[in-house]
Amino acid sequence: MSESLGVAVLASGSGTNLQAIIDRLHVPANVHVHVEAVIGSRPGIGALERAERHAIPTHTHPPVDDGGDWLRETLEVSGAGLVVLAGWLKLIPASVVRSLRGRIINIHPALLPSFGGPGMYGRRVHEAVVESGARVSGATVHFVDEIYDHGAIIAQWPVPVLAVDDAEALASRVLAVEHRLLPAVVEAYAEGRFELSAAGRVAWAGSWYSGDEFKMVSSKTTD
Ligand code: GRF
Repeated sequence: MSESLGVAVLASGSGTNLQAIIDRLHVPANVHVHVEAVIGSRPGIGALERAERHAIPTHTHPPVDDGGDWLRETLEVSGAGLVVLAGWLKLIPASVVRSLRGRIINIHPALLPSFGGPGMYGRRVHEAVVESGARVSGATVHFVDEIYDHGAIIAQWPVPVLAVDDAEALASRVLAVEHRLLPAVVEAYAEGRFELSAAGRVAWAGSWYSGDEFKMVSSKTTD
């Protein structure tokens, strides 16, 4: 692969997943990927500060619902080949999904198709998992379609739910694997290992994803 993939990262919060992408992929030694732009859903969020610290161009979504015009134009001008939702809370407008189908991915802090959909974000996801009595949670990276947390699943990383877990403890362990899964998927995309097929399924070019890459993780990691 000769050309570097430019990635636009969309974030609404502190941006630790963005940081994981920067640390793992936005480095001189990596000729496959660079972060082209970071778009924040509102001013002053940690993700925008992190981007600025790394001299990555930033944009802030205007506080209007324009049907996706601003976002589509901003992404087009950025020239990004892949759009990564890393803690982005807004629904991507259908017009943007249509123009970038197969080039937008999202990370969700549970094992979809469970514990996803409208209103299922942040702490609420982990509260629902703990409340349900499920013994396994994890992280999911999927293609984005017109429905919240619904597009084709690319990769997942399971995390055990411990008997002593509250939402906060579980969130912390899931976040630690998010930081490993998301850069790995972005890199695999840059290397042309998978794509969204015309039938809406994930088509793998090789054997990269067998699930064996991502083992159950129970240790607590902090960032
Ligand atoms: C992560 O758990 C992500 O999966 C979810 O929101 C959280 C964002 O964390 N969508 P951060 O902003 O990357 O730190």
